[in-house]
Amino acid sequence: MVDFLELREQFPILGQEIHGHPLVYFDSAATAQKPQRVIDAESKFYETINAGVHRGAHELAARSTVAFEEARAKVAKLVGANAEEGQEEIVVTAGATAGLNLLATAFGNASLGRGGDAAKRFALKPGDEIVVSKAEHHSVLLPFQELAYRTGATLKWFDLTDDGRIRSDTADEVITNRTKIVAITHISNVTGAITDIAPIVKRAHEVGAIFILDACQSVPHLKLDFHKMDVDFAAWSAHKMYGPTGVGFLYGKRELLEALPPASFGGSMVELAWMDKPAQYMEPPARFEAGTQPVAQVVAAGVAADWMREIGMENVEAHEKAITAELLKLNDVPGFRVLGPVENKDRIGTVSFDVEGVHPHDVGQFFDAQGIAVRVGHHCAQPVHRHFGLFASSRASTGVYNTVEEAKQVVETAGKVRPFFEV
Ligand SMILES: Cc1ncc(COP(=O)(O)O)c(C=O)c1O
Repeated sequence: MVDFLELREQFPILGQEIHGHPLVYFDSAATAQKPQRVIDAESKFYETINAGVHRGAHELAARSTVAFEEARAKVAKLVGANAEEGQEEIVVTAGATAGLNLLATAFGNASLGRGGDAAKRFALKPGDEIVVSKAEHHSVLLPFQELAYRTGATLKWFDLTDDGRIRSDTADEVITNRTKIVAITHISNVTGAITDIAPIVKRAHEVGAIFILDACQSVPHLKLDFHKMDVDFAAWSAHKMYGPTGVGFLYGKRELLEALPPASFGGSMVELAWMDKPAQYMEPPARFEAGTQPVAQVVAAGVAADWMREIGMENVEAHEKAITAELLKLNDVPGFRVLGPVENKDRIGTVSFDVEGVHPHDVGQFFDAQGIAVRVGHHCAQPVHRHFGLFASSRASTGVYNTVEEAKQVVETAGKVRPFFEV
C-alpha cells in the first residue's frame, strides 16, 4: 500500500500558504510539482559531475555520459521501450512540442528526398493525407498542419462525440489508403478522456501509415507500454511527470528511428562532415540530439521516472480515480458544466468546466483567493473548445499529491462562485 499522504510530504512547494490558505494545487496538467528527490538530483549533478556528454577524455565527462545514458534507460523502462546500447528507442528533446516538431520537420525533410530510400516511407506529396483529431493540443495540430501546407498533403481529422471523445469507431472511414501519418492525443488536456487508440493504430497500420501518439497527459497518469500499444512514435514532456522543465522524450520504434532523417543539425550528431558533400549522420538517438544536451534535467527526469515506477502506476491510477470522482461532482453544481465524460470511466482527473455567466478568468481568480490553483483559458486546444461552443474554460487537474478532501474543497468553492458574482 502506498501512503499518498506521506508521498505528498516529499513536495516542498506544497507546504506553503497562498493568500492565507494552504496551497491546493490542481494544475498538474499544465505542469506537475517536483518531489525533493528530483530537485536534489538536478543540483547534485551540478555539484558533483557537471560536464558535457559523449565527448572529452576526462573523468567528469565520462561520469556525466553514464548518468545521461542511465537516465535514458530509466525513462525507457517507464514506457516499455528498448534501452540497450545500439537499440535505444528514446530520444531526448526539449519537450513534447519539440518532439512533435522534430517529427514533422523530419517528415518534411524526407518529403524533399533527404534520408534516401529508407526515408521514403515518411515522404508526403499532394494527395497524401495526414490525420489528426479535433481534440488535439496545438502542439500536435500546428506542426502537422504546417507539414501539410509544406508538402501539399491534405489534413483530415477525427470528429468528437458530444462529450468530447475522439470517434475511434470511425477509423475505417477517416483513415484511407492515402493516409500517411496519423497523430492523435492519448488523453485530451481539456476533457481528460482516454482515447481508445487500438482501432486507430490498427487501421493506420493496415494502410501503411505511421501512428504518432501525444502521450503528454498519459505518461504521468497511466501504466504504459509503447511496444504493446504498437505505436510508432510517442512524445511527452518531463515536467508533467514530476521532472524538470526544458526536457522531454520522443519514443520511436527502433527501425523507424534508424530510417528517419534528422531534423536539426549541429554538433554531436555527425560521424563525418565535409565542405563539399553531405555529412554522414550518426545512428539514433544521437542523430536527433544535435547540440549540448540539458544533461542535469535529463538525469533528474530519470530519477522522476524511477520514482514513478516505485510508486507503481496502477497505484497512481487508483489514487487519482478517487479524486476524479469528487471533481466530477462539479457537473452537479448549478450553472456548472463539465467538458468531457462525466462518468468516471476511461478518463483521468483533468476536469475542465464552464460556469454559466462567469468568465473563466474570474473563476480562476475566485479559486486563487482560496489558495486553490486551477487553470483558465483555452489550454492551447481551441478546436475542442469550439466543439463545446466555447472559447475558454476553467480546469482542475490532479497529481499524485492531491487528496479527496482537496477535491471536495474545489467542489465546495465552486458552489460559491456564481452567488459571489451574483449570477
Ligand atoms: C496533450 C498535450 N500535448 C502537448 C503538450 C505540449 O507540452 P509542452 O508544452 O511541455 O511541450 C501539452 C502541454 O500542455 C499537452 O497537454
